[in-house]
Amino acid sequence: MVEFDTVYERRNTNCSKWDSIKDTYGEDGLLPLWIADMDFKANQPVLDAINQTAEHGILGYSPAPDSLYEAIQRWQKRHHNYSVSKEAILFNSGVVPSLSLAIQAYTEPGDAIMIHDPVYPPFAKVVEQNDRKLVRSQLLIDQEHFIMDLEEMEKYFVAENVRLFILCNPHNPGGRVWTKGELEAFGKLCAKYDVLVVSDEIHQDLIFAPHVFTTFTNVHSTFKDFSITLTAATKTFNLAGIKNSMIFIENPDLRKQFVEAQERNFQNEINIFGYVGTEAAYEHGDDWLDELLGYLKENIDMVTNFLKAELPSVKMMHPEGTYLIWLDFSALGLTDAQLQNQLVHKGKVVLNPGITFGPKGTQHMRLNVACPKETLSEGLRRIKHSFE
Ligand SMILES: Cc1ncc(COP(=O)(O)O)c(C=O)c1O
Repeated sequence: MVEFDTVYERRNTNCSKWDSIKDTYGEDGLLPLWIADMDFKANQPVLDAINQTAEHGILGYSPAPDSLYEAIQRWQKRHHNYSVSKEAILFNSGVVPSLSLAIQAYTEPGDAIMIHDPVYPPFAKVVEQNDRKLVRSQLLIDQEHFIMDLEEMEKYFVAENVRLFILCNPHNPGGRVWTKGELEAFGKLCAKYDVLVVSDEIHQDLIFAPHVFTTFTNVHSTFKDFSITLTAATKTFNLAGIKNSMIFIENPDLRKQFVEAQERNFQNEINIFGYVGTEAAYEHGDDWLDELLGYLKENIDMVTNFLKAELPSVKMMHPEGTYLIWLDFSALGLTDAQLQNQLVHKGKVVLNPGITFGPKGTQHMRLNVACPKETLSEGLRRIKHSFE
């Protein structure tokens, strides 16, 4: 049994989630339910493996060992029915740095790159900071869930000559686990217009039954020709600070271009603890992940019930995956600044402002429920108090 109910003190541990908000908002005593990491301890086998490496005491340069490749291949096969070949696997310090490398490897300054609106904010930043043209395609809402607007995407593919699409699969902040059928239709459209797909699959293991995650590359035998996959064990197992991620590139030409970009940026040697932690997580993490998903599901139910009873004007998008909930505050009629102000300065609770995810995120907030129930329950009480 994992003790997900245990409340650990994270303040004064140099942690982004709890420690940076005092400087950001100029207030003490704020409760953080924002950035996507969890207030749970890592799985013991991961901590043991990291401790064992540290105890050896010599922490020199370190390549990825064969045992890590094997652990990744077994995990991908067992959990996602994806037989990734060893030569397809590359490593980097993070998914976001890999997005930047992919942009540099496959496009030229000024090229158009498309993302969804709303979507994880670094997608837009990484496009703009690489001097590429950002094109957003709106997500539509159908039965209280996001769906892609393929018609609009096609229009922009033509009008803007889009070269690359950064897909969030599953979707942050909406918690949508795109179905195989949706991915197939999306992929066919990208193939038709020669748009390369970079699929960010960092949330791939955080899926609630009956929903099923599909690796984009695996949807159809031709999709590996024009796509690359980015993923990591760090989101699933709460290891963001060990800085390790994978890139799966089956197409040898695309792989060569990516490796060249990595070498140009000297991004091909990474943290020894990242390798060790990732391998231990994938080798020994199945039961821990099962328990985590059960706990997260209960937390999501807690939010559903709370909003229904206490704050019915706030609508939630029920997540099919991820530990993130997209909340719609538009019925309150507040501006984004007023909404943020009331939550932070009246309720003393910090969520991610929806507007940072794109223009469609106006009057929304993203709530992170990966915390002990006691913390979540206090957070919900504060959210309600913000609007009393
Ligand atoms: C969709 C998505 N991609 C990437 C990341 C961050 O990945 P990394 O820390 O490996 O750069 C996050 C973190 O929340 C995320 O939600």
